[in-house]
Amino acid sequence: MTEKIPKIFIQELLERTNIIDLIGNRIILKKMGNNYHALCPFHQEKTPSFVINKAKQFFYCFGCNIYGNSIDFLMKYEGYNFLESIYHLASLHNLKIPYKNLDSYEKKKYLKINILHTILKQVCKIYSQNLFYTSNIHALKYLYHRGINNFIIKKFSLGYASNDQTQIQKFFKKKKINTNISEETGLSTNKLISKKYDRFHQRIIFPIRSQYGKINGFGGRTLNKNLFPKYLNSPETLIFSKKKNLYGIYELYQINPHPPFLIVVEGYLDVISLNQYNIPYVVSIMGTNLSEYQIKSLFQISPNIIFCYDGDKIGQQAHWKSLLSILPYLSDDRTIKFIILPNTEDPNSIIIKEGTQKFLLRIKKSQSFYKFFFNYFMKKIPLNSINSKIKFSKTVIPLIKKIPGKMIRLYLRKILGYKIDFLELEDLNAIISFKHKTLQTKKKIIKRTTMRLLISLILQNPKLVKKISNLEYLKSFHIPGISIFIKLIQYIIQSPQIKIGQLLEYFRDTQHENIFKKLLSWDNMIASNQINQTFLDLLHNLELKEIEYQYNLLILKEKRKGLRLSEKKKIWNFNKMLTSTIQKNK
Ligand code: UTP
Ligand code: MN
Repeated sequence: MTEKIPKIFIQELLERTNIIDLIGNRIILKKMGNNYHALCPFHQEKTPSFVINKAKQFFYCFGCNIYGNSIDFLMKYEGYNFLESIYHLASLHNLKIPYKNLDSYEKKKYLKINILHTILKQVCKIYSQNLFYTSNIHALKYLYHRGINNFIIKKFSLGYASNDQTQIQKFFKKKKINTNISEETGLSTNKLISKKYDRFHQRIIFPIRSQYGKINGFGGRTLNKNLFPKYLNSPETLIFSKKKNLYGIYELYQINPHPPFLIVVEGYLDVISLNQYNIPYVVSIMGTNLSEYQIKSLFQISPNIIFCYDGDKIGQQAHWKSLLSILPYLSDDRTIKFIILPNTEDPNSIIIKEGTQKFLLRIKKSQSFYKFFFNYFMKKIPLNSINSKIKFSKTVIPLIKKIPGKMIRLYLRKILGYKIDFLELEDLNAIISFKHKTLQTKKKIIKRTTMRLLISLILQNPKLVKKISNLEYLKSFHIPGISIFIKLIQYIIQSPQIKIGQLLEYFRDTQHENIFKKLLSWDNMIASNQINQTFLDLLHNLELKEIEYQYNLLILKEKRKGLRLSEKKKIWNFNKMLTSTIQKNK
């Protein structure tokens, strides 16, 4: 499948991508010397063992041994397949993928994604313009009435889907967009009639964007109190999935992709109002179902999450549901808190009512995870008898066990002990030990062969290619691994500035991929001041091995059919070379 995209294009993508930004947009990095360190996103850990090397454009985790280039990171982190990663990088740099095979299904899919994003961008513009036509003045007035100013309208690219139920259909026609594609935008109704109508009409439009600003879908609010549903969203499409988006993430990234804390709300207007009142560290999950995907995204933005759902019963239940789904992600470096609003309020209404300062106070006074956690059960199970205390423990303990953070568990245990008058913590400890698969971090030992040492040296110091004087001669060698060594040298000679992350790409899906990756991160224990000499020695070693091989071949031939004079001369020469090196080494 991969050969459908020219390798040279993939190299260009890697060249343009800075792995530090790519990963840094997703997890929090710390610069240490030439490298960047982070808590590994692929296994649970307390001290960072995930390292990214800018010069090599390569990442590696000493904890779980995962490694690779930008493409590998996207595949592992986002769960993309190879092509999806390429697509992602291409769209990041606004490049069109030059597919080789015109009929490929994948090509069609990715071209389609590109087209859909372009269409949604144009449609968003139409919605934005609509808002300022005099015929739609009621829509603009509605926004003003809700306290939204022009600056925020622009910042969030708010718009209006007009009364004309065919405005977007007309646009499709004018742009000659075929029905197959227009259907997939999610912007047409699914009514079973021959004529198509716009999905959104007479609604305020909220474009839902990715962190990079691509419009994935829309939310639309009715102006008519009696119209159901109050909010209509894009359906699930090739480019939109509600559970994979966070409303407001693009606008947040413009200000600070890694704020010290992040407020999570239910609604579009909650995000917008908090922004208007200078609290921009906020995203919405567009409802009350927090998905696993969203949890991961939230923690990649900030380790401190503050939930502030609506004050009504549904909102409060959603707080609890969110807490339950977040437990397996609670490591000791992360915190979650809760702002409990009065029953009839939501973040949007309360900030308008109370203003910024009071809301900041609510943030400051937000309920800790511990308080929220125990209060929930205390309300359900009054602790007035031994039986109820046992019941209480039985309900709480399985949840505590889900938390990976050791310190968090320790404190929960302690609080539980107080609540149930059970202060022998040792006994509790035994019951509440965390159960999750511990990662096997045993490293496989790589046998030190001449070939492996040479490859690893050249990978780690590409400049060594200059020491190779006779590549043609090397090519004639019969030593296992020589072909990968030669290829490597050729790639480096072709583009001396090539980064390891790019080199890696040449070997993807080839038989050499695995050994190549292993050698890349292998500690060959060669001191840096000895690299040059060792490399030369190893090359010489290689030559001797080849001579030995030729020598043995001739000996074999001699036994079978005898040798010609020229061959006898060769043997004699080989003998001389081999013995001279033996003497030299004495
Ligand atoms: P709310 O009903 O709390 O709406 O739904 P809201 O955000 O407070 O909006 P206003 O102030 O009444 O205008 C919260 C969020 O849930 C999603 C939307 O993302 C909404 O912002 N939702 C709600 C829907 O997707 N569909 C609905 O019918 C209702
Ligand atoms: Mn609300």
